[in-house]
Amino acid sequence: MGTPASRFFGFVIGGALPAAVAADWLTTVWDQNAGLYAAAPAAMVVEDVCAAWLADLLGLPAGVSAGFVTGGQMANTTGLAVARHAVLAAAGWDVEDRGLAGAPAVTVVAGQERHATIDRALRFLGLGRASVTPVPADGQGRMRIDALGEALARVDGPAVVCTQLGNVNTGALDPVGEIADLAHERGAWVHVDGAFGLWAAASPALRHLVAGAERADSWATDAHKWLNVPYDSGLVFTRHPEAHRRALGTSAEYLIAGERSQRDAMDFNPEFSRRARGFPIYAALRSLGRSGVADLVDRCCALARRFADGLAAADGVEVRNEVVLNQVLVRFSSTDGDGDGHTRDVIRRVQQEGTCWLSGTTWHGEALMRVSVSNWSTTAGDVDRSVAAILRCAGRGA
Ligand SMILES: Cc1ncc(COP(=O)(O)O)c(C=O)c1O
Repeated sequence: MGTPASRFFGFVIGGALPAAVAADWLTTVWDQNAGLYAAAPAAMVVEDVCAAWLADLLGLPAGVSAGFVTGGQMANTTGLAVARHAVLAAAGWDVEDRGLAGAPAVTVVAGQERHATIDRALRFLGLGRASVTPVPADGQGRMRIDALGEALARVDGPAVVCTQLGNVNTGALDPVGEIADLAHERGAWVHVDGAFGLWAAASPALRHLVAGAERADSWATDAHKWLNVPYDSGLVFTRHPEAHRRALGTSAEYLIAGERSQRDAMDFNPEFSRRARGFPIYAALRSLGRSGVADLVDRCCALARRFADGLAAADGVEVRNEVVLNQVLVRFSSTDGDGDGHTRDVIRRVQQEGTCWLSGTTWHGEALMRVSVSNWSTTAGDVDRSVAAILRCAGRGA
C-alpha cells in the first residue's frame, strides 16, 4: 500500500520527511541499543535535546520527562502507567511493589469518543475497561464539560481523567484547559491523548484549539503521524519526572546506570533494549524548524478544508463534521434512501479507481467516508485530483 504517498488519506498515517528517512537509515546502520546512556550516549543526548525542543514546540512545561515509544498506543499506556502510580501513591498504595490486588479502585473518567487505545492501555495496566466512567460527548465528539462535572461528583477515591485532542473521526479537540482545571479541583491526574491533535499547539494559528493543555499531567502523541517521521515513533511526556521514573524505571547488576544528568531511556520507556528513535525526530525538527512544523500543520488543515469545500459543492454530498483540523467526514446521499449503502459503495469504488486511497467509518449511526490529510507532500493539486476522482466514483463528476 502506498501509505507514504501524497494522495493517501486513510486512517491518520502521515508520510516520511526525506531528512527523517535518511536519519532512520543511519539509525539502522549505527545499530545503537538506546536503553542506556552507557551503551548509546549520543542517542540519549539526542533524545534529551528533542524532548526539550518538543516541549517548547507543543507548549508543554519546561522540564517535562519524556519517553520515545513505538506509537500512540504505548504513549497512552506509559502515560497511564505513570498516572496509576501517582494516584495510588497519593492514596498510600505502592502499586509497583504490591500490584493491584487489594488496591483502592482507580476510576478512569474518559470521553465517550475516546480512542480504542485508551481501553487497551487500561487492559494492559490491570485497571480493566470496567474502570472507565464514560463522559457523554457533544455533536462533534468533544467531552462535555457539564457531564464531566457530574461524572467527577460521583467518583470516590483515586481518579484519572483522560482527555482527547483530535477525535479520530472528526478531528475535534476536547476543551482541555477547562477539563484539567475541573479534574485537578477533584485531585485527579489529567492525561491527554493528543496522538495527532496536540500538534495544533505547534501552529500559532491553531494553538487556541489546545489552550490549557499545558496544565495536564501527562501527554501522549505521535511523531509518525503529523511530524512525518517513519514508523515507529510515539512520544509520552509527563510533568512529574520522579513519578515517571518510579513507574517505569528498572535496573540490574550487570547494567551501568547513568549519572543523574544522563538519560537512561529504560527509566522512561516500557522497553529494555530499544531502537534509537530520537535520531529521525531530531532530523525532522532540524530540517523543518519551528516555522516548518507550523507550516506543515497549517497546510494539512487548509487542504482538509479544500477537500471539504470541493466535495460539499456537489449535489448530494455533505460534510458531516466541523473541519477544525485535518479530518473530514463525508456522506453521499442516495435517491433510494440508502445513504449508508451508497457511501460504502463510493468508498469501495474510490479504493479500486486508484487516484487516491481513503476509507470509511460509522459515526453517530451513519456510514461516512473519512479523509485525513497528514502528509507533508500533499499539494492542492493532489486534493483537487482526488476530489474529482471521488465525485466521478459517486456519479457526480464530469
Ligand atoms: C486519538 C488517537 N489516539 C491514539 C492513537 C493510536 O496511535 P498509534 O496508532 O500510533 O498507536 C490514534 C491513532 O490514530 C489516535 O488517533
